[in-house]
Amino acid sequence: MNIQNQNHLINLNDYSTETWDSIITLAQLIKKTPRVYKGACTGKIMGTLFYEPSTRTQMSFQSAMLRLGGGIIGFDNPETSSISKGESLSDTAKVISGYSDVIVMRHYLEGAAKAAAMYSDCPIINAGDGGHLHPTQTLTDLLTLTEEKGRLTNLNIGICGDLKHGRTVHSLVRAVSRYMGNTFTFISTPELSMPDYIKKELRGIAGISDFTDYGCFSEVHSLEEAMEHLDVLYMTRIQRERFPDTPEGRAEYNRQQQIFTLTADKLREAKPDLIIMHPLPRVDEIATDVDADPRAVYFKQANYGMYVRMALILTILNHKIDMEPLLSGKSVITKRDCTNLKCVTHYEPTLPKRSFIKDGKTVCEYCDCCD
Ligand code: NCD
Repeated sequence: MNIQNQNHLINLNDYSTETWDSIITLAQLIKKTPRVYKGACTGKIMGTLFYEPSTRTQMSFQSAMLRLGGGIIGFDNPETSSISKGESLSDTAKVISGYSDVIVMRHYLEGAAKAAAMYSDCPIINAGDGGHLHPTQTLTDLLTLTEEKGRLTNLNIGICGDLKHGRTVHSLVRAVSRYMGNTFTFISTPELSMPDYIKKELRGIAGISDFTDYGCFSEVHSLEEAMEHLDVLYMTRIQRERFPDTPEGRAEYNRQQQIFTLTADKLREAKPDLIIMHPLPRVDEIATDVDADPRAVYFKQANYGMYVRMALILTILNHKIDMEPLLSGKSVITKRDCTNLKCVTHYEPTLPKRSFIKDGKTVCEYCDCCD
């Protein structure tokens, strides 16, 4: 096991805000003068391990590395790799890290990226671990806000859709709440509302009460209630793959999926300088009649993702990262099972279970689940 500081990116909050800002600034520079960075990663290899479907994240990483002059190895279909023969995540991470200078990994289990990092000899970038986190989408979103709103502070950000399962929004609110004066309006059904552990973190940042000038949020159940107050509207799709694959699960998905649709008509009350973001792919939560509205920036956002990933690869390979150690330092090895059934600890027999106590609750080191 290798828990040395390897410049992994597992959770954005392991980095200082200054590091995020420097990645964003570098991404802006690369966007302006791409030629300067053309050969910056010549001779380096990026391994991409995609255990879950991906278009934008995978291809923007690949395009980023190719534009920097580096090479790529990897898979996007575990069925055609040794995983189909029963290879563990830890063995795959160990072996591929010997072939790569940096690994980008997406997995359906929560905490999988941290687990892989414990066995890897090269930096691991978390490209999404189940419904848990998606830090590189958040860097993309921070760059989009910087470019399209000109600031990361004093924004009222509406987040709409599947807030329970959407890893992009879990990462986003934790990041944006670090900047001053931002407020969130969570727009969802009660069944798909923001998880308690995230709301608890926000309350902690805000100093317990729900509403302060820093890190506050409110919850509503319709787009109409929120629209006129928003500076940013972040739409998300209902995460079909996180619903149980049963007749009840499918029926519940179909019901949820029809509730929130942004149409050009619903934007009538919106501010003229609102921006509409979406991590994509969209299903039908944004009608295509919104695409022509200059406030719709979701396709630009996907493009920013490539520049931010170029900046991230360069930063990680140049060891220019000031980060927390991989393990929180508070956690201890335990025999207690994590209560989150989607946690990686249930599937990797050799992975030591680790947890720590926070505010009287047991918190899993890998997936952050607390009970
Ligand atoms: C997101 C993801 O995979 O979590 N997509 C992406 O990376 N751009 C959002 C989603 O799938 O809904």
